[in-house]
Amino acid sequence: MTVAESSLFSNWIGPGPSDPGVTRVGDQWLVTRHALVRQVLADPASFAPDNALDAVTPLSVPALRILVRYGFRLPPTLANNGTPSHPALRGIVADALHPHRVAAQRDWLTGVVRRRVVTITASLRAGDPVDLDAAVSRDLPLAVLGRLVDLPSDEVAVVKRFSAAALELFWAPLTPQRQQELATVVGQYYARLRRFAETASGLVSTLREYALSNGLSMDEVVGVLFFLLVAGQETTSQFLTLLMRRLIAEPELPAALSAGRVSVEDVVEEGLRLEPPIVTWRRVTTRDVVLGGVPIPAGASVLLGLARAGRDETVVAEPHRFIPGQRGSRRHLAFGAGAHRCLGAQLARMEATVVISELAPVLRRCRVIAEPTFPPNLSFRMPDRLVVTW
Ligand code: HEM
Repeated sequence: MTVAESSLFSNWIGPGPSDPGVTRVGDQWLVTRHALVRQVLADPASFAPDNALDAVTPLSVPALRILVRYGFRLPPTLANNGTPSHPALRGIVADALHPHRVAAQRDWLTGVVRRRVVTITASLRAGDPVDLDAAVSRDLPLAVLGRLVDLPSDEVAVVKRFSAAALELFWAPLTPQRQQELATVVGQYYARLRRFAETASGLVSTLREYALSNGLSMDEVVGVLFFLLVAGQETTSQFLTLLMRRLIAEPELPAALSAGRVSVEDVVEEGLRLEPPIVTWRRVTTRDVVLGGVPIPAGASVLLGLARAGRDETVVAEPHRFIPGQRGSRRHLAFGAGAHRCLGAQLARMEATVVISELAPVLRRCRVIAEPTFPPNLSFRMPDRLVVTW
């Protein structure tokens, strides 16, 4: 792997203002300009989503054998679906995540976060360190998702182990040994999801009925559930930790929030722009194309710099500074765009606004004593801790 290629795995945000917009690095065609990223997302006929969940480290034969043993299959369903089944599957999931249903969870979540703030404050007052990732971010998105969608009643640690393993298996550079370990974790939990999906109610039963009367199979039903259980909580967990870290580094922001000088919605939006949990996302060209003046052949993997697009100086007045409400702040592409735009955007925003509103008075007094580590990954930032004291 070249230095440029390996840099793609280190929370890649991309080159500075003079970058040309489209560059080739290894087998990826990097797209960095906001306008070009949008152009790709808006043109599914030329840039299909089929490779969205392809393993960055191609699956070895032993790893594939492990996955096959557990019956693992990920047919096109949501993010990786460029086929005609996408709109209907998307519609069913969109109903489950409808803004009214999301809004109905706000009071419950506020109560939970308030109780946690009491415990966190008591520890910090006593001089004890607190890991905000473990105390706030890690389990709350999963708990909220479980109130919207029927999920297997497993320990949080079991689900988190599976979802982190899935992000590593599909988006990290891996040794053959590590790939097989991850394939085992992911395969086992996939088999668990398949058994659960046979009888589950709510969203899963709607999907089951739809699949069976429209020529799809249980593979699609489990595929949707699999994706939701990873995308529907890992991303938000990561975002909460990233945003809290940023606000601790800029204590005038939580202070301004507590004083009502900025709105929490503007803070969350600026956070999504500058600290998105997903830094890149992939599409594949369906034909020879020219993008930003650069010819790209059919079948090429196009890597969209979502984080980089949020810092495009042609869109944002002060691209590298955290200024809630500044011009262009809301035009980030953290949730993608077009036919596959994130279905959980409202949910993620609701969770972040509740958490940040409740924690602002705590954050303004915090000092970080153990920063997160960020494992190598093409798309996900995956912070693992945020240990603070007062
Ligand atoms: C801060 C948190 C989140 C971020 C940054 C994020 C980001 C993304 C991105 C970049 C995509 C791909 C969009 C595209 O291809 O244009 C996506 C798709 C998706 N996300 Fe999220 N997401 C987040 C939270 C969630 C949550 C909480 C859920 C559900 C509970 C969710 C469900 C989905 C689904 C179902 C899709 C696929 C949509 C489709 O292909 O039709 N996401 N998300």
